[in-house]
This record gives sequence, C-alpha cells and structure tokens, in this order.
Amino acid sequence: MEASNPPLADLSSLEPWDVAPETKMIPEDQYIDLEVVDISQINLESLTSTTSTLLSHAEAIDKAMRGLKKTGFIVVKGFGLTSEEISHQFALGKFLNSSVPEEEKKTLHAAINEGSWAGYKTQGYYKRPDGGYDTTEHYDLYPYTALESRLPQIAKQYLPNIRQFIEHNHYHILPRLLAIISLGLGLEHDALWKLHHRGGSYEADHPLSGAPKDNVDWVHTKDHLRYIIYHPVREEDREKKKYLSLPGHTDLGSVTFLYPQTIAGLQILTAEGEWKYVRHYPGQIVVGLGDSMEFITGGLLKAGPHRVKEPPEDQRHIDRPGMFYFVPFLAEVPLSPINHPAIYKKGGKDIFEEYYQHGGKPMLSNEWLVERSKLVGKKRIEGDLDEFGQKKSAMRMALEDISYRYM
Ligand SMILES: [Fe+2]
Repeated sequence: MEASNPPLADLSSLEPWDVAPETKMIPEDQYIDLEVVDISQINLESLTSTTSTLLSHAEAIDKAMRGLKKTGFIVVKGFGLTSEEISHQFALGKFLNSSVPEEEKKTLHAAINEGSWAGYKTQGYYKRPDGGYDTTEHYDLYPYTALESRLPQIAKQYLPNIRQFIEHNHYHILPRLLAIISLGLGLEHDALWKLHHRGGSYEADHPLSGAPKDNVDWVHTKDHLRYIIYHPVREEDREKKKYLSLPGHTDLGSVTFLYPQTIAGLQILTAEGEWKYVRHYPGQIVVGLGDSMEFITGGLLKAGPHRVKEPPEDQRHIDRPGMFYFVPFLAEVPLSPINHPAIYKKGGKDIFEEYYQHGGKPMLSNEWLVERSKLVGKKRIEGDLDEFGQKKSAMRMALEDISYRYM
C-alpha cells in the first residue's frame, strides 16, 4: 500500500511573484467593464430548481446571464480562495517554470502533438510561421496527471498543494458557476454539472487529496490547469507578431478560469467589433465561455472571442504570469443543443445543422477538441481548395465555417 499524500507544503517559503504595478498607459475608454458575479452564497446542498432558489440567487443569475450573453465573459468573486492563496499559487507557477533545469523539463515535455498538454511546453517549441521566437512557457496538469512522478524533482513536495488547488476549481468553483448558468438558462440546477462531472454528484467523490502519490482514481473530467509565463517578445519580433502575444480565438471547451494578475494584455471582442482591454480585478477570476458551451446552448450563450495584446510600454519588459483552469464537457457529450424546452423555446439552434446535412456525424465534445486543436495557430485557407490543392468537400467547408466563425 502506497503512502497517502504528505501534508500541504508551506508555499509562503517560495519566492513570491513580484507583482508589477498596473499600467498607466491604457486610456479609460479602451477598457470594457465586466459583470461581477458573487458566488459565495451558493450552497450546493440546498440548491433546487424551484422559484425560491431562483429568487434567492436572482442577482447572481441576472448578472451572469447579462454578462455572458453580451461578451461571453464575466468576473467571479466569492469563490473561496484568498488573495494570499492565489499569490501562493502564482509563486508555485513561477517556481515550476523558472527554477526547474531545462534538461529536466525535457524529460517532462508535454506530448502536445499526441493531444496531451500534461507537462512542460518550453520556449521556442512552436515554430511560428512569421519566424518570430515563441517566448511562452507553461507547465500543465490534468487531475489524473497530478502525480509525484510527473513533477520535477524540486517540486515533488508541492503535489498536495497542486491537488488541493485543482480540487477547489473542480468541486467548489465549477459546480457553483454551472448551477448559476443552468438556472439562468431555465434548466435544472445540476443540468450542466452532470455534463461536466461523470456521475453528476456534488460530493467530492474520488478526491485527489489523500490519494496515493502516484495513482489517482480520476475518470470524472479532463479539466486542465496551466501555470504559464509570457516572457517579453524580442524587440525584432514585435512587428512580425503584429504586436500580439496571442492572436484572436475562442477557447474550445466549456468554461475557462483566468486567475488575476496585473500585466495588461487580455482583450475581448465586443458585439460592436471592437477589441477592449479587460481590467485587473484583484482577488477575482475572469471566466470566459468556450465553443462547446455555445454549441450546447444552441447559441443562446456565445463563446467569447479574445486575444492577448503585447503589454503596454510600461509593462512590456516584465514577465506576464498566468494561471488558467480550462474545463471541457465530458468527452462523450454531443455538442448539439440540450434537449430541453428551455433551450428550444428561446430559439436555440444546432450550429452543426449544415455540417450534418453534408454527411457530418454528431460532434462529440472530445472530437471537437481534437478537431479544433489541429487548427490552433493556423489561418483558414481561403477558397475551395485545401492545402494539397484538392477541392474541399461541402462537409469540410461547413466545419470550417464553424471553426472560423469569429476569426
Ligand atoms: Fe484563450
């Protein structure tokens, strides 16, 4: 019998992330204000789908739905982590990316071209078509790869802290957020949760904490935690990169949590077609919707197109940290509108309609992730010939129309 997790390590002994002052160079009219939704009052055990639940959570539901319909993004507060706990996680992210020898990172490389993000993506991995050097590095985990053997030597002691953080995202923040969205759509409070957590219970079943250090009994989800650093872009590459750290796109899955940091750059596309900066919301997370959530709600909610602009001049020389928690639907969930009158009566439509008419098979969540992952960083080939000069099928054209609908 393997020993269970050692106790939490003391993250306050790590070198803290040196928080940069906020920029003073972005004019006020270039920001967009997001709706701030407080989820602290949501008690999962007492949730029902009756009028009393709707009334007692009316403010959170209204704000969330208003924000998500408008831009695909909201800010969430009251999610049960203190600013200090968040800072400690940023310190851990810095440690994982900056203190591990490059040689050791190579032994823990993520098999990205095989479809797994678990492990390191080092700088220079992507050969960009514009020739610019890739200055981003990250270390990623799925719940089932939160194992001692997958951590670098000097970080093994932090396994319990990482597991606890993943658990908090999955079992605390995610079901509360999904309950608010479900109720806002007119569905049962746990309708979306059941599509994100195999088994559908709000109980913290199969917890990561206390699991053996090299074996996690986790089949519930493919949630995905990323500790990332955007290093400054080389001066000679700025123009090649069109002054962007990351071009415009939508996330592929259901929801993404972005932990707060002060380096500006994240922009979202408004309904008026303008790119606007997202402010720094201290101690709060920015939550964005991905493609899969748009599809499954029949377009009642939209994925939020976003990009990362290079930081403004007063922050451009500073490393930009990030902690992202990506959440997909369960792999086998079909991405057609939920079969419920609340969706159809409000005009929810299947975005794959035309794709199916041309012979496409029902698109499952994991198939969409694989399909769209292949297109990351690639521009659509205009016209009706593919990269090999062959005529694109009507089915492929229909799928491209969906993939590139916001680009
Ligand atoms: Fe994104």
